[in-house]
Parts: sequence; C-alpha cells; structure tokens
Amino acid sequence: MLQRAATLSQFILQQEREFPHATGEFTGVLTDIALAAKMINREVTRAGLVDVLGYTGGVNVQGERVQKLDVFAHETITRVLGSTGQLAVLASEEDEDIVPVPEGQPVGKYVVNFDPLDGSSNINANVNIGTIFSVLPRVSRAGGGTLADCLQPGVRQLCAGYVMYGSSTMLVYTTGNGVHGFTFEPSIGEFLLSHSRIRTPRRGRIYSVNEGNYYKWNDGVKRYVDWVKSDDGESGRPYSSRYVGSLVADFHRNLLYGGIFLYPADRRNPNGKLRVLYEAAPLAFVAEQAGGAASDGHRRILEIVPETLHQRTPLFLGSSDDVEACVEFIQGRHPAVSQERRADPEPRPRR
Ligand code: AHG
Ligand code: MN
Ligand code: MN
Repeated sequence: MLQRAATLSQFILQQEREFPHATGEFTGVLTDIALAAKMINREVTRAGLVDVLGYTGGVNVQGERVQKLDVFAHETITRVLGSTGQLAVLASEEDEDIVPVPEGQPVGKYVVNFDPLDGSSNINANVNIGTIFSVLPRVSRAGGGTLADCLQPGVRQLCAGYVMYGSSTMLVYTTGNGVHGFTFEPSIGEFLLSHSRIRTPRRGRIYSVNEGNYYKWNDGVKRYVDWVKSDDGESGRPYSSRYVGSLVADFHRNLLYGGIFLYPADRRNPNGKLRVLYEAAPLAFVAEQAGGAASDGHRRILEIVPETLHQRTPLFLGSSDDVEACVEFIQGRHPAVSQERRADPEPRPRR
C-alpha cells in the first residue's frame, strides 16, 4: 500500500503497475493536467493582487460574460495539453468549436473535454472555483481529431476529475479504479495523496440547489425538494441546504459528506443549465466510482450520447439513495407521492 503522502506521479506509476493495461502515454495526460492546474492555481491565489479579476468585456459561446481568469485557464490548458503529442483534439466550455492540436505538433490518441474555470461568478468573491476534465480515447482513425471524438457518451471516459482552487487546492480523479484525492503542497509544488479511495455515503443529509428557480421547476422536482425540507426525524429530514454556486465546490462537499446536488430543467433552461461533456459526465464518472449516482431524471448521465459540444442536461448527482429518491419523485413513483395522491385525489398544481 502506498504511503499516504505519495505524489500524484508516484501514485499514477503505482496504479500503472497494478493495472498493466494502463500505458505510460495515458498517464502523461493526467500529469499534464496537474501541471496546468498548478499554473492556474498560482493565478487564482494571486487573483486579488494582479489584474486577472474582472471581465474581458467579451461574451462566450454560452452567452455569459467572460472573466479574465476563464480565458487564462482556457489558454493554459490548451497550451499545456495541446503541445504534449498525447491528444488528438480538445473541447472547452470557452470555445464554440473543437480545439485542434496546433499545427506541427504530433497528434496523439486521447481527447480532453474540459471546463477551464467552473464557478466563474464566484471568482471576484474569493469563493472556491474549479476546473473539470474528461479524458476519452479518440475514435477517428488518423489525422487531426474530430467533433465525433469529443461527442462520446460518458461511459467511454478513461479518466475524469476536477481541481478545486480554494483554501487548499485539491485534485480529485478516477480512471475507473476508485476515486483518489490529492492536496496541493505549495512549498514543494506537488499534489500529495490525501484522500485514497473516496467513498460517498449511500445517503446524506444535504441538498444543494438554487431554490430561486423553484417556481420554474416541474412538479416532480418541487415535490422532492418540499419532501427533503419536511420534518420527519425518523428519516433524517429536513436536510440542510448548502449551495455555493460553484458546481465543483458543491459536488466535492457532498462527495465527502453525502447529499444531493440538483440543477433541474426549468422554464428558462428547458435542458437544464449544466453541460454534458465537461460538467455532468466527468462528475458522474467520479460519483459512480465513489459509490454514488448521477441521473438526468430518467437515465444515467453516463449513457447520454451528446449531439452537440455544449449540450445541456438536467443533473441530479450525489449519494445513490438520495438520487434514487429524487428520480422516483420526478417519475411520480415515490411512495410519498402515492400517499399524497390517496390523501388528496385532486391535487392543485403547486404554485
Ligand atoms: P461556469 O462558471 O463554468 O459557467 O459554471 C457555473 C455553473 C456551476 O458551477 C454552478 O453549479 C452553476 O453554474 C450555478 O448556477 P446558478 O448561478 O444558476 O445557480
Ligand atoms: Mn462550469
Ligand atoms: Mn466554466
């Protein structure tokens, strides 16, 4: 068993020895992601001091105002990963199209979809933000990578994870052999193993959702959120509400403590707000590998075959029993729903 303070590189090599199918080339992608994370972390920690705060004045493909740190993170990741010869193509939240490997650079056999900076609205308030990444095998045969290489279902991911920049910066990832967490030690510039084999509780006592959207949700989601807030000591309700507004931070807390994160569809966002390729699918892989679950309300997130690069999805993510209960409410088959129907056969629509 590896000593706890193993560096990320030592841990990856040890995993390679344990799982011979892993090739050195693939592990290079992960160490390069860690390098980009260290460079972004340095800017994030200095954000209050140097001119990386504030807006570029531009608007990204999502129609959102672009933060300088978004651009810095996007450019850092594309530069570091694009020049390693490992990748065939990249896709970023901050770029409308796929990001080809630079001219003259060797083309590799992997694909990385990423959210360079998650939680941008929190940058200026010094609240935790993150980077989310998803590594896939290329499916195209030769030459530069293609859109089809990026548009793969989450079940095909080789590796996925996130970096969370905060009071301490962490990198959490899975390659399908459990979930492992590393804490950045700035004095030596290394990510050190701090959370080996993270397992998320089957059930938590936390729900994370932007309740400001309550009146735009469908009845099933309203019923679920009303249910977790209702007083039933026996089943550990009401849950506590915790919502940071950075997906990475909300997800990481619930992964360790247990609980559910919801970003439902609503009248304003008929497919939800969060993106399949570089938010929902990578975190769904991590959640499932830690014993949790991830659904769009009707199917596993990992089974969604994306048709467009920035495709959105409703997202219910976290402890397996909590996600299951939420899905049962959405599908109208939770016992509490049938009880309610027996008690009130003509329910009024929830205002
Ligand atoms: P990003 O900054 O990459 O666009 O992601 C923001 C996302 C996600 O981090 C968070 O869970 C969600 O937006 C919060 O949305 P609301 O402010 O609508 O609650
Ligand atoms: Mn995001
Ligand atoms: Mn982002």
